Amino acid sequence: MTAFKQRVLSGMQPTGNLHLGNYLGAMVNWVKMQETHETLYCVVDLHAITQATSVWGGPATLRKSTLEVAAAYIAAGIDPNRSILFNQSRVHQHAELAWIFNCVARLGWLNRMTQFKEKAGKDRENASVGLYDYPVLMAADILIYHATHVPVGDDQKQHLELCRDIAIKFNNDFSVEFFPITEPVIMGTATRVMSLRDGTKKMSKSDPSDLSRINLTDSADDIAKKIRKAKTDADGLPAEAEGLKGRAEAENLVGIYAALSDVTVADVLKQFGGGQFSALKNALADLAVAKLAPINDKMVRLLADPGYVEGVLVDGAARAAVIAEPIMAETKKIMGFV
Ligand code: TYM
Repeated sequence: MTAFKQRVLSGMQPTGNLHLGNYLGAMVNWVKMQETHETLYCVVDLHAITQATSVWGGPATLRKSTLEVAAAYIAAGIDPNRSILFNQSRVHQHAELAWIFNCVARLGWLNRMTQFKEKAGKDRENASVGLYDYPVLMAADILIYHATHVPVGDDQKQHLELCRDIAIKFNNDFSVEFFPITEPVIMGTATRVMSLRDGTKKMSKSDPSDLSRINLTDSADDIAKKIRKAKTDADGLPAEAEGLKGRAEAENLVGIYAALSDVTVADVLKQFGGGQFSALKNALADLAVAKLAPINDKMVRLLADPGYVEGVLVDGAARAAVIAEPIMAETKKIMGFV
């Protein structure tokens, strides 16, 4: 088996505000992986346009959101000198490889993608072809760098399986060991942060209720208010993790606390088990403000100089292309393009 260099790639869409789910499910791990791996992080602007224009907001909003997400990466601890930070549309090889992968991936594989079904909803005929093809572009994002590890939240598991299937089929079809079989990295106690209003739904940018999520740009007052109002059940907190089973809201708040303080769920229950939710909620509000306020402040400072943030993306894209271009060229050679 070919030994591939350990390399990390991940990305987020510049649609709407980033929230606590994005931060704990993905970004915290991105920051950690800078210590151990070569890391590439992109703002996936080509993915953003797969939804209706009213969702991604049109040209002025796309531009603003792209810079905001890049600023959030830096503010959360992505160091543009250590990591390659760029926006996807600047490195044309992503789209080029996606076309080739369109001819590798099978319709049946894409038909099974649950995220497409959720996002397209009932009006599937009216969804863009790009939304259907979203996971293929995602596979190209990863494999154009021969990335071996992809840190994401739990909701991306199925897309990463598709990425593996594409790599395996390409390798088999052309009798090569060219693309790595990428490992998803889904780690921590908050791999699936749930809505604060309904513990059965994922915390999401698209939830109509702003009370359902904590945005990275929320003020301290808003964070405290949202946590105070978070749905809970009638029982107190259990002393052991077993007691959280079937109690989605309780499990979510404990998981968020554990992730923000970088301890285990058992540790949190040692401290708060047997008590009322109010004690946990007060401590969680303080903790969330302490963690998020410095990120928010740094984002505001960075965005006061959008030229700097754009410069980081331009520089990152040039560094990314140095890795992507030879892999693109070799892919074409393997397939017989003249
Ligand atoms: P996006 O922007 O929808 O989500 C960005 C990251 O945040 C994670 N996430 C969550 N984690 C825990 N709890 C939640 N409630 C929650 N909501 C979102 C997502 O799992 C993701 O890691 N399709 C990707 C973007 C992408 C990508 C890629 C990722 C495009 N190309 C290549 C990795 C590699 C996505 O979900 O974006």
